[in-house]
Amino acid sequence: MNWQFINDLQDIYSLLDEIGAQTAERDYPILWEKVHATSCAQIGRMLAEKRGVDVEWAALACALHDIGRWFSGRQNEHAPKGEEPVRAFLSQRADTKETKELIIKAVINHSKKEEIGSPLEEIVKDADILDCHWHGEDMTKPFHIARLRKALEDLNVQT
Ligand SMILES: [Fe+2]
Repeated sequence: MNWQFINDLQDIYSLLDEIGAQTAERDYPILWEKVHATSCAQIGRMLAEKRGVDVEWAALACALHDIGRWFSGRQNEHAPKGEEPVRAFLSQRADTKETKELIIKAVINHSKKEEIGSPLEEIVKDADILDCHWHGEDMTKPFHIARLRKALEDLNVQT
C-alpha cells in the first residue's frame, strides 16, 4: 500500500475542510473538489501506466490540479491561480525540484485543453475531462469533445 499518497489525500481533504469553513460562495462545493481530486488521481494513474509516465507524479498532479479553485472558490482563471498554492503544498515534500516544477506546470496549464503540453500535462488534462465526463458533465466545446474521444480510445473504453 502506498501510504504516502493516502497521507497526501489526507492533507488535501484537511486543507479543503479548512477552506470550506472560511469561504461561503463557491462555484463548486467542497465535496466535489474532494471527489474530483481523488478520482482524477486514479484516472491519472491509469493514463500514466499506459503512457510510461511516473504513476505517482501523475496521481499527485491530478489530485492537486484544481488547487487554485479550492482557494478562490471560482472557476475563472483557476489554473494559473494554482501556482502559488501548489508550490506551497509541494514545498513540504521530498521530491526533486525538477519533479515539483513538472507538477506545478501541469497545474498551471491544465485548462489549456486545446493545446498539447508535456506528457504529465496531457495526463492531467485528459484525467480532468474523463472524470467530468464520467460524473455526467456535458462537453460542449469541440476541443473538449475531441480530447474526450481520444482519451477514451487511449484507454480502450470507447462508448
Ligand atoms: Fe480545473
